[in-house]
Amino acid sequence: MFLQAIIAGTVLFLIIQYIRERNTLKKIAKHFGGPKPLPLIGNLLEFNKDVPEIFETGIRLLKLHGPDTFFWGLFNRYMLVVSSPKNVEKVLMAKQAQKSLLYTFLESWLRTGLLLSSGEKWFQRRRIITPAFHFKILEQFVAVFNKEADVMVTNLRKHVGGKEFDIYSYVTLMALDSICETSMGTSVNAQNDPDNDYVKNVKSMSVLFLRRIFDPLAGYPVLYELVHPRAYKTRKIVRELHKFTDSVIAERRKQLQESGEEGKRLTKSDENLYSKQKMTFLDLLLNVNVDGMPLDDLEIREEVDTFMFEGHDTTTSGISFTIYELARHQQAQDRIYDEIVAILGKNNREADLTYQVLQEFKYLEMAIKEALRLYPSVPFIGRHLLEDTELDGITLPSGMEVLVSIYMIHRNPEVFPDPERYDPERFSEDAESKRGPYDYIPFSAGARNCIGQRFAMLEMKVALIKLISNYRVLPGESLGKLRVKTDLVIRPHMGVPVTLVERD
Ligand code: HEM
Repeated sequence: MFLQAIIAGTVLFLIIQYIRERNTLKKIAKHFGGPKPLPLIGNLLEFNKDVPEIFETGIRLLKLHGPDTFFWGLFNRYMLVVSSPKNVEKVLMAKQAQKSLLYTFLESWLRTGLLLSSGEKWFQRRRIITPAFHFKILEQFVAVFNKEADVMVTNLRKHVGGKEFDIYSYVTLMALDSICETSMGTSVNAQNDPDNDYVKNVKSMSVLFLRRIFDPLAGYPVLYELVHPRAYKTRKIVRELHKFTDSVIAERRKQLQESGEEGKRLTKSDENLYSKQKMTFLDLLLNVNVDGMPLDDLEIREEVDTFMFEGHDTTTSGISFTIYELARHQQAQDRIYDEIVAILGKNNREADLTYQVLQEFKYLEMAIKEALRLYPSVPFIGRHLLEDTELDGITLPSGMEVLVSIYMIHRNPEVFPDPERYDPERFSEDAESKRGPYDYIPFSAGARNCIGQRFAMLEMKVALIKLISNYRVLPGESLGKLRVKTDLVIRPHMGVPVTLVERD
């Protein structure tokens, strides 16, 4: 009898809590507007579609109800999507926030590396890792970008004068080789061995991640891990990915021990840090001290894995969507070619691009920025509020999920008139100075902004200069049909089909 009363009391409590929570949500939903949710399943039916359609539906609903829109998922899972500058600022600058639930799907692979960590751990890691992007180190990385872009250009030569082909896959492999070599000092040789296991596993993780976002069990991690067939597959792939990184770390540690380098621990003020020959990101982690202690292998692995994930799909999309726009806008491509000739001279095809020379490519930078406006590599970023937060005069409860839609922010017609039009002039110095700090944020803003943005810009510039100095890129027949899809990174659904003509 007593037990029955306890059960009945608990059930009643849960029902009351559910109704209360639902009423709060209804109030917020009414305030912001959004698609009408069905009982229990929310708006899940709207998203029960093929992959690019999921993205298109999200954008359609945001346009219809935005700039700030409320979505409801299974049961009481919900999120607010914001793109108005004042709400974006409040969310990105919130002192108390974690990455949203979506990111935890990557945790088995990336653990709590820089992207996923929060609080003190994040703060300490960001401090340690920041020197890896010092310009002295970036200068060395530029040599790697040159080498890998040269391989890409050579591999592309077989398409000159041929039928349309997908250039996205070539860019992906080039970016993967570049991040592997700069972060670990090792080569997976993806460009010449695309069937390499590591390359295949990284790709599979992206697909599994995307499928999980829209899985009905997405919000129930324990159940998902127990019963979902894809959970088993994910665990297997993660084991293999870790095995690879573990072996690279062990090998490098051994090399450093043998050369007597490992004992020479670095501190932030160590001048040698910036003058080291061929310093990789992994070397920095292997040599750094935190409170007098070196990082252990697991701590190093999570950071290296994070870089492998964040550091190649993002630049791949940046480069590929710039190619897409330049193929469609030959005048812009011509201006970049003129810039190449003006800076590097007529014999520019095999020029060795240095950090300093890359700073001179102003129009190219504008062209890349405009492509990142239309196709921001990370189109949404998510936060889990850790304290009640007021937006537009209404209080969002702590625990709420908020998505910042970079994709929609960049299409605000008041800031970017005729927003779908590709026009690099939007990034002239004069035009840029007239915009607010939250009008254009491809690398996010605030303390959690992208640590790799200068690295990314250098890699993108090198790849595009090498490509355009060698070939004129023309649109393939099916280029007009391009559709995009997104997991954490935006991608062309069927690649970027182009044709190539050799330059004189
Ligand atoms: C075009 C290229 C890139 C774009 C558009 C981009 C964009 C972003 C964005 C929007 C974030 C914020 C994510 C969030 O708040 O959830 C971010 C974070 C991050 N990015 Fe990038 N990224 C790019 C390239 C790179 C590269 C090349 C690296 C590494 C070499 C990198 C490493 C990271 C890391 C580690 C974080 C987490 C930083 C932190 O929370 O402290 N990114 N990136």
